[in-house]
Amino acid sequence: MAWMSNARSPEAPYEVIRWQGGQLSVLDQTRLPWTVEHVPIQDVAAACEAIATMRVRGAPAIGITAAYALAIEAQRCAGASAAAARAQVERAAAELGATRPTAVNLRWALERVTLATRDAVDGIAVAAVATTTAERIHAEQLEADRRMAAAGVALLDAVPRGSAGSVITHCNTGPLATGGLGTALGVIIEGYRRGLVGHVLVDETRPRLQGARLTSWELQQHGVPHHVIADGAAPGLIPGRNVRAAFVGADRIAANGDTANKVGTFGLALACQYHGVPFYVVAPRSTVDLATPDGAAIPIETRDEDEVLRTIGAERAALAAPGARALNPAFDITPAELITAIVTESGVVRPPFGPALRAAQETPLG
Ligand code: MRU
Repeated sequence: MAWMSNARSPEAPYEVIRWQGGQLSVLDQTRLPWTVEHVPIQDVAAACEAIATMRVRGAPAIGITAAYALAIEAQRCAGASAAAARAQVERAAAELGATRPTAVNLRWALERVTLATRDAVDGIAVAAVATTTAERIHAEQLEADRRMAAAGVALLDAVPRGSAGSVITHCNTGPLATGGLGTALGVIIEGYRRGLVGHVLVDETRPRLQGARLTSWELQQHGVPHHVIADGAAPGLIPGRNVRAAFVGADRIAANGDTANKVGTFGLALACQYHGVPFYVVAPRSTVDLATPDGAAIPIETRDEDEVLRTIGAERAALAAPGARALNPAFDITPAELITAIVTESGVVRPPFGPALRAAQETPLG
């Protein structure tokens, strides 16, 4: 069953992840922009399905959803002993963790919830601590988004009012991807509100069209002028459209600053380097994985060939010659040397990223 969402969060004109009285639902991103509808997530199997099929997507949003799914599982086991409830939560975490391998926020959130249950004395305590930890992860993301928007907008401050140019972005990094203001798109929307961004070039983001379907829809909700462009058009359009900067998100940032993000990000970074346009990555600290030394060690999710070979939507019309095969890596790695700066809730991190990222991960948030 699904129902229309009327709820408005203080962060966005639409609610992305709803947690109310122990009930979870997410705005179904596979149906946007045509249908704005929440789907309930009643158990771990439904959460796995929603994450794997990308009803909920974006690194922080899948972490938050998985954390709530563990809370639901722990509540289901509240009558069991602490050991039995914890074992069940760990089994559920393994299932959820297998859905999407690249975004480290998923693993980070699952580990945080399971670790928090370690000292619980009975099933009720396991359920209580799993729930408060999931709620904390969600609340911290909202706060991280506010901090990233403030820090990111400072990068645009040098642009005089009235001459605010374009920025370019790839994939979707708005409220839909975090449940809060968003990461890169949060900076862009805040930049528009302050007169620092006049227009956005939105890469359509083949094959799942997160840019065309989701980012364009979100920019419409916030009244931000933009054009959707084919991914391959970006290098040619950057000089003529007065593009001041690129802002993208991340699914995992390795210890040396190499960044996994939606496939096509690397190409955009190369185009920005060619044209001398700053290339900024905006991501919460939960996306930084100091245990992964560099991009080569980041697992890249491979998705179904049909995502490339067929249209999205009900008819799934063929786009390629019958029998054509496709390669469908969902992400690529942008080498650290193409990244001008990384914005986290700790502030702006500049190269050399190794020591700077380590310091940022430990900066106390005032
Ligand atoms: O496959 P998706 O749509 O989950 O990929 C999302 C991205 O690549 C985003 O850029 C990233 O998760 C950052 S979202 C704040």
